[in-house]
Order: sequence, then C-alpha cells, then structure tokens
Amino acid sequence: MKQYHPLLLTPGPTPVPDEILHATQEPMVGHRSSDFEAIAQEAFQAIKPVFGTENEVMILTSSGTSSLEASMLNIANPDDHIVIIVSGAFGNRFKQIAETYYQNVHIFDVEWGQAVDVPAFIDFITELNVDITAVYCQYCETSTAVLHPVGELGAALKSFDENIYYIVDGVSCIGAVDANIARDNIDVLISGSQKAIMLPPGLAFVAYNNRAKQRFSEVTTPRFYLDFNKYLKSLADNSTPFTPNVALFRGVNAYAQLVEQEGFDNVIARHYAIRDGLRSALKALDLDLLVEDQYASPTVTAFVPQSKDELAYIKNELKSRFSITIAGGQGHLKGQILRIGHMGKISPFDILQVVSALEIIISEYRNTSLIGKALTQYMEVVKAYV
Ligand SMILES: Cc1ncc(COP(=O)(O)O)c(C=O)c1O
Repeated sequence: MKQYHPLLLTPGPTPVPDEILHATQEPMVGHRSSDFEAIAQEAFQAIKPVFGTENEVMILTSSGTSSLEASMLNIANPDDHIVIIVSGAFGNRFKQIAETYYQNVHIFDVEWGQAVDVPAFIDFITELNVDITAVYCQYCETSTAVLHPVGELGAALKSFDENIYYIVDGVSCIGAVDANIARDNIDVLISGSQKAIMLPPGLAFVAYNNRAKQRFSEVTTPRFYLDFNKYLKSLADNSTPFTPNVALFRGVNAYAQLVEQEGFDNVIARHYAIRDGLRSALKALDLDLLVEDQYASPTVTAFVPQSKDELAYIKNELKSRFSITIAGGQGHLKGQILRIGHMGKISPFDILQVVSALEIIISEYRNTSLIGKALTQYMEVVKAYV
C-alpha cells in the first residue's frame, strides 16, 4: 500500500510544531511553585501581541467554549438584554449558552456564508428599543469560513451606544489576524489553543480592556470555575486559581518564541497568502467558494463541490489515499461544503499537497484532466509571498 505523511488540514485542531511538543514534554513542576510562577508570568505576557492587547491575557485550563460561556457570565447580569449575531454553528453555540442562562436574548441571524451587514445590524438593535448590555459575535465563523468585519462593527457599536460591551470569539483566527482590541473597540476577545495558536487542545484565552475588567467585578451572575475575578486575582501573583495545564502553559511560551522568530507580521502575511492561493486553486478546479473574497478568512476556506457524490469522493479519497484530513460542513451545510483549514504550522508548500491531490482526485471523478491547472494558479499567487 502506498503511504504518505499525514496532513491535518481541519480548522482545528491543527498540527503542533516540534518546538511546542518538546516544550510540553518537559518534566512536570508543582503548580504552586516558583517554577510554575515563572512559566505563567511569561505566558500571560508573551501571548499579548497576538491578541493586540496591553493587559495580560487570562489563560483557562478548558476548551474554547468555556471562554464563550465565561464571557457571558462575567459580563451580563441575569436580567440584562444581550444580542447574539448568529452566522453559523459557533454563533449558534453563543445562542445556546445565552439561552441556558438568560431570558432576554436577541438573535440577529445572518445567512450562513455571509458576513454581518453592519448597518442592518445597527438598524436591528435600534428597533429592539431596549438597553443592551452586550453584543456577541464571531471573528471568524469557522463553520462557514467567514471573517466578520469586527473593526467596522466595533466602531458602529461605539457610536450607537458606548456603554455596550462588545465580545468577540476569535477561537479560529487569533494568531493569524491583525487583532487589536483598542483599535477595534473590543471589550473581550477570546480564543482557544488548538487552532492558529498551534497548541494541543485544552486552553482558553481571554483578553479584555479595563472597562471589561471593572465590569467582571460588578456582575452578579453566579459562576464558580469560570469567575474571571478569580483568574485576575491569581494572575497578579503569576498563578491560576485551579490546577493549570502546566504542559500547555509551557507550550504557550514556545509558541510565542516561534511567533517572535518568524515575526507576527510575517505569520499574518503567510496566512493571507495561503488563503489567496488556495482560493485561486479551487476556482481553477471549478469549485465554487462559499464566501466572497472580501470576507474570506485567512484560516479556513469553504468550497462547494459540484455534487454530493463529488463531495464525498473528494473527502474520502483525500483521507484514504493521500492521508489528508479536511473537514465537512456543519449544521445545514453538512453534505454541502468542504472546509480546508490552513492555520498555524502550515507552510505554503504544505498546501501544494492538498492542491495536487485535489487535481488528481477531481480529474478522475470528472473524467477530465485538470493536472497542473490549480497548482499553476496557486503558485502564481503565493510566489509573491515566498
Ligand atoms: C469560532 C469557534 N468558537 C468556539 C469554538 C469552540 O471551541 P472548543 O471546541 O475548543 O470548545 C470553536 C471550535 O471549533 C470555534 O471554531
């Protein structure tokens, strides 16, 4: 049987660089020791640039969803009105969390595959005619591969009502985009470890401004493990309120070193070059893209095969013959789209593998020769970057 190196191209988890793996395998230290304090102090600081924040970033030992939940429990009081932008499966997750705890939840639905229309959203909240405490939105909606205009939305919200807290879920793009919470008027920006931050799963990150920090201390909604005040109090002592994932904290520091070596601007440019190259390649294979260019995420690309059978054939052949794992659709897009994740430890040359495998598979399936067509388009785009 012919065998190829496995290539993980899902929108998380993503491949973990050796430097990070090695760091996570260092001998264990006590989590209440000065050894861990040194690790934690470095981690809280080192991760700040990728969130574009001045404040030290909270790190929770739990998956990304915990930060979605915590960003409600620490911002909204039980009777508050909150607004959720639902543009895919992860907007839905915000909605499910909100409906678990709150009565006054307002949903602004966006067609899956589209970005939020900011003026239409402002019209929506104007018509609600209630005091809104917080607005929740994805940065990248992973299920559709849309990168929302979070800066435009932040500016519009601020001029609509500067008291509203703006919470952004950056789980699937922080580490690959030019995030900046002050510039974009974001109050809380959350993420997870297993995507563009290229760690194994298991950590959640929370960046916040001073206004949000103050709010955490005033909110009365019951919470225990997810009480940000506990994390902030411990953070001031270079510690965590509960047993942290020591290995992954070391991984955070190894990650930050990798970013520093490459230069964060280069990291971002690499993601955008891969996005643009891959989109050209997919078009050359007559595959429709779900998202228009303007809102295409640099971390994941969604495309629409010509039929359900073609979709299944592509996904199965990539896996069984070429050891390449990509993702299907979620929710009502299941069976309609495929998604290629390209964040974290992905070089433009890794993507050559999936592009060439797609050429072979689709040529066979459609009984035509597409060999070289997508690769040429891909190289034409990425050559400017490499
Ligand atoms: C945008 C977004 N939000 C939240 C989550 C949930 O994170 P986790 O699966 O780590 O709980 C994901 C995971 O894919 C995501 O992509």
